[in-house]
Amino acid sequence: MARIPDATVDDVRAAVDLIDVVGDYVRLKKQGNRFVGLCPFHNEKTPSFSVDGRQDLFYCFGCKRGGDLFKFVEEIEGVGFLDAVRLLADRAGIEIVEEGGSHPEADEREAMHAALRFAARFFFDQLKTPSGKRGLDYLLGRGFSKETITTFGMGYAPDSWDAFLQAATEAQYRPELLEKVGLVKHRDGSDGHYDFFRDRVIFPILSPVGKVLGFGGRIVPGVPGGKQDDDYEPAKYINTSETPVYNKSGVLYGLKQAKTEIRGQEEALLVEGYADVVSLYQAGIKNVVASSGTALTSQQVNLLARYAKTVVLLYDADSAGIDAALKAVEIVLTGGLAVYVVQLPDGADPDSFVQQFGADAFRKVLREDRVDFVSFYVGQARKSGGLETGEGKGAVAEALMRAVARIDDPVAQEHYILRAAAELGVPDALLRSQYADASRNRRREERRPPPRYRTSDAPEQQPPPSEAPIVMRPEERSLLRLMFEHGTPMVEHILMKIGIDEFSPGLVREVVEHIIERYQAGTFDTEAFLRGDLGPIIQRLAAEVLSETHTLSDNWELKKGIGVPVLDEHPYEAANSTLKFLKLDRVEEAIEQCGHRIFLAAQADEDLTILNREKDQLTALRLQIAKGEFLEWGTEAVG
Ligand code: UTP
Ligand code: MN
Repeated sequence: MARIPDATVDDVRAAVDLIDVVGDYVRLKKQGNRFVGLCPFHNEKTPSFSVDGRQDLFYCFGCKRGGDLFKFVEEIEGVGFLDAVRLLADRAGIEIVEEGGSHPEADEREAMHAALRFAARFFFDQLKTPSGKRGLDYLLGRGFSKETITTFGMGYAPDSWDAFLQAATEAQYRPELLEKVGLVKHRDGSDGHYDFFRDRVIFPILSPVGKVLGFGGRIVPGVPGGKQDDDYEPAKYINTSETPVYNKSGVLYGLKQAKTEIRGQEEALLVEGYADVVSLYQAGIKNVVASSGTALTSQQVNLLARYAKTVVLLYDADSAGIDAALKAVEIVLTGGLAVYVVQLPDGADPDSFVQQFGADAFRKVLREDRVDFVSFYVGQARKSGGLETGEGKGAVAEALMRAVARIDDPVAQEHYILRAAAELGVPDALLRSQYADASRNRRREERRPPPRYRTSDAPEQQPPPSEAPIVMRPEERSLLRLMFEHGTPMVEHILMKIGIDEFSPGLVREVVEHIIERYQAGTFDTEAFLRGDLGPIIQRLAAEVLSETHTLSDNWELKKGIGVPVLDEHPYEAANSTLKFLKLDRVEEAIEQCGHRIFLAAQADEDLTILNREKDQLTALRLQIAKGEFLEWGTEAVG
């Protein structure tokens, strides 16, 4: 296992400013001695995320996440401690001399990032070689300067089946690893691998702090080395597909370079292509990103919301671009951002426009030709003749009200309802009932059962206000279901490993108490619960739990990568995994509360020794649970 010397960790800590790092992800406002902003770890509308630069601690009063600089990077980049240190060292220009050998297996994710970093360097360096001149000439010929090429780390993949593979192998990267991150492909029907990117200019796709996640590769026109070209037409761009470290729907091309400018202007331009980002940036219009090659996702919008209040969509004027923009509008609005649309003259994309007419002309269009989404919808409908019939108009009104229902600010909602009424030439009272339908639908959508573990920036969901829900953790639901389904032996299996006080207080604990009572009396019988012998509420709970059709393993797998056997197929194993999750949750809650107290004590300059020790103990306990040690504990309760 690679190790980073403690002294280096201390150097990094001293060299990097927490406020600065957090500022890359969160729009921070100074408030007294602290900085506050919207929490990047959960969805919120009012800021409960606080950073204390003197103590070097961050803490969210909403989701209770907190910790130091490294913890922040770990959580936000989804990396381990070592990688967090490396990232920050990179940023501070501190070189890390690692102890203990280079075993890629030691941490596969870190190895993947290292391989991607190596590849980016390799492609970039190719531009300076004779064979890479072709790539360099193309990039320069498109009007990208050397400085821009460096800023974006562009490169060239040689016209070869294995030039990259060979270089990477020489540098000790295994082909299997390179394959996992999409850099090489397995040969069909034989051993060996070949380069995925061949004779293409390369656009590295980076995380907001500059980790290489993947690449886009554009075809270079003309035939390499004057060879005879064959008939088939390859795709203009090929991109790294999803890999363990590249989740397309959560990444925006150019954000690394654009984020400071976006934060400053509180506005982001969203374009379609890599080249659009690069050209605008080079022209000094730097607040620009692209959702490269995919339709805009809510995850990407949430990412932008860390920096921007407004998104301006600059999609191509073709029908695909217009469709994409229509869809993007709703997604941006749902993310709580304002949205405007700019349409460039037919045939132009931002890249060609700014290269041809210059930055001032582009800025003028951006300022003067932007329209709000109401104008955009209505304008599109008018062009396609969609406003000529009553039905057509009705459909546009409905689409508009659906979009308005996505907006949270009532003043903005009112503004857009009136705008829609004016644009469509109908009384606003008519639109209001459509609006009411749409917002009812939206609430219904949001009522779908919430995932217990949020792995992304999906919006936090509220339970329905009307029907009193039976609130319990999914783990509790599963444990109850297992006991009801499998009777006495399962009751014994589960209750030997968990204490009554580890169940949520209230109804759930009450049910468990009944189960224990009956188990001890030797009269446990699921029917009794279902018949209503224990009252209507418990009856409903039992019925509800047993009628659950889906397994909960999907969310769990995501959480910690601990597989959960399907409840019905391997009930005892499922019970063990479920117990593990419930216990982990409990101890994590305790750790969070402890972290909260440490934060408050640190604010008050109090001694942290005892609290820190308590936190260490809890952390050790968490490790034991994660390893499954409780499975041998018998009846002993946790905590
Ligand atoms: P465009 O087709 O609009 O290309 O694709 P472009 O950006 O104008 O490219 P240049 O100017 O000819 O170099 C827009 C984006 O869609 C994705 C790429 O991310 C591209 O930047 N795309 C396009 C692909 O992924 N594959 C393709 O074959 C084409
Ligand atoms: Mn283009």
